[in-house]
Amino acid sequence: MTASWKISFGLMSICLLQCRAASQKVQLEPLNSTALRDSDVQFIATIQGHWEVTNWGVRGIQVLTIINSTNSIIPSEDRFSARFCVNTSRSCVEFTVHNVTRADAGEVVCNVQGHQPVTAQLYVQESGTVSIPGGNVTVKQGGEVELECVTTAWFPAPTISWTQNGQAVNSSLYNTTSTAHGDSFNSTSTVRLTASRNARVECLASLSTLTAPRSSSVYIEIVPKPPDWTVLIAIVVSFGSCGLLVFLILGIVICYKHRKEKKQNYQDEMRRVRTHSRLSVISTTEQVRGQANEYYESENQRNDTGDWTESGFMKHRHMTFV
Ligand SMILES: *[C@@H]1O[C@H](CO)[C@@H](O)[C@H](O)[C@H]1NC(C)=O
Ligand SMILES: *[C@@H]1O[C@H](CO)[C@@H](O)[C@H](O)[C@H]1NC(C)=O
Ligand SMILES: *[C@@H]1O[C@H](CO)[C@@H](O)[C@H](O)[C@H]1NC(C)=O
Ligand SMILES: *[C@@H]1O[C@H](CO)[C@@H](O)[C@H](O)[C@H]1NC(C)=O
Ligand SMILES: *[C@@H]1O[C@H](CO)[C@@H](O)[C@H](O)[C@H]1NC(C)=O
Repeated sequence: MTASWKISFGLMSICLLQCRAASQKVQLEPLNSTALRDSDVQFIATIQGHWEVTNWGVRGIQVLTIINSTNSIIPSEDRFSARFCVNTSRSCVEFTVHNVTRADAGEVVCNVQGHQPVTAQLYVQESGTVSIPGGNVTVKQGGEVELECVTTAWFPAPTISWTQNGQAVNSSLYNTTSTAHGDSFNSTSTVRLTASRNARVECLASLSTLTAPRSSSVYIEIVPKPPDWTVLIAIVVSFGSCGLLVFLILGIVICYKHRKEKKQNYQDEMRRVRTHSRLSVISTTEQVRGQANEYYESENQRNDTGDWTESGFMKHRHMTFV
C-alpha cells in the first residue's frame, strides 16, 4: 500500500515539474553556444502571449532593449542587433552578437518583462599563431628528425596533429604540452620522425569552431649520401683482378706456345746438328771409300734421292735410340 502511494506521489511530482516547464512562456535557443572570436553568434527567444518589453544582457550588462508598442529595437552598441523572426509575429526574436569577443563569453540573458529571465551560455574560442621555429631541416637518409611546433595565444589549447606528405603522423610519435598564459594557452608539440625521403611536414592546430585548422609546414631534405668508397674500391679491385687474371692466362698461354715452338726448333736444330755430325762421320768413312762429301750433303738436303735420305734417316733413328 505505502509503496503504490509513493509511486503515485512520484508521478504527481514529475507531472508538476513538467507542467511548470510547459507553462514557462519564454524559451531560449541554443542554451549553449560556442563561437570563434570575431564571428557572429545568434540566440532565438520564443515568447508565448503578449509582451511589452524585452531586454537582452551579456555578461550581466544590458546590451539591447526591444519595446513592442513602439516597435523599437535599441542596442547599446553596433555589435548587438535583434529582429523579429517573422515580420507579422512578435513571438520570436533573434538576437545577434557581431564580432564576438572573449569578453562576451559567459551568460546571455533574455529578460521578458513579467516573465522569469532565461539564460544561455556563450563560449568564445580564439585561434592564435602556429609556427615551426626550427624551419627546414636537412638530414641523412634514415636519420631521425625532431621537430617542434609552437602555438601561442589560443583559447582553449588547440588540438595539435602532424602530417607528413599529407599523411597523418601516428600520434605515438608526438607529444604536446600546453601552458596557460593569462587567459590563453601556448603549446609546444614535439614530433620525432625517421626520414626516408624528402618530405613536407605540417603542424596543424585545430579548435571545434575552426572550419579549417591553422598550420605551419617545413621541409625535411635528405642530404645526398657521400659516395661509398668501399663499394667503389671493391668494384675496381674485382674488375682489376679479373683483368689481371685474363692477362696472366694469356701470358701463360703465349709463353707455353712460345716455349713449345722453341723446343720444336731446338729439337729440329739438334736433329740437324746430330744428323750432320753423324753424317760427317759417315762421310768421312765414305770419303775413305772414295766418295765426295759435298755430294752427299747436297743430296741429303735436297731430300729427293730415296737412297741417301733413307740411309740418313736410318742412321739418325739408330742414333736417337742410342
Ligand atoms: C566586425 O569586424 C569587421 C572586421 O574587424 C568589421 O569590418 C565590421 O564592421 C565589424 N562589424 C561590426 C558589426 O562591428
Ligand atoms: C624551405 O624549403 C622550401 C622547399 O624547398 C622552400 O620553398 C622554402 O623557402 C624553405 N624555407 C626556408 C625558411 O628556408
Ligand atoms: C601507431 O603506433 C603504435 C605503436 O607503434 C601502433 O600500435 C599503432 O597501431 C599505430 N597506429 C596507427 C594508426 O598506425
Ligand atoms: C613524450 O614524452 C614522454 C615523457 O616525457 C617521453 O618519454 C617520450 O619520448 C616523448 N615522445 C616524443 C615523441 O617526444
Ligand atoms: C606564450 O607565447 C608568448 C608569445 O610568444 C610569450 O610572450 C609568452 O611568454 C608565452 N607564455 C608562456 C607561458 O609560455
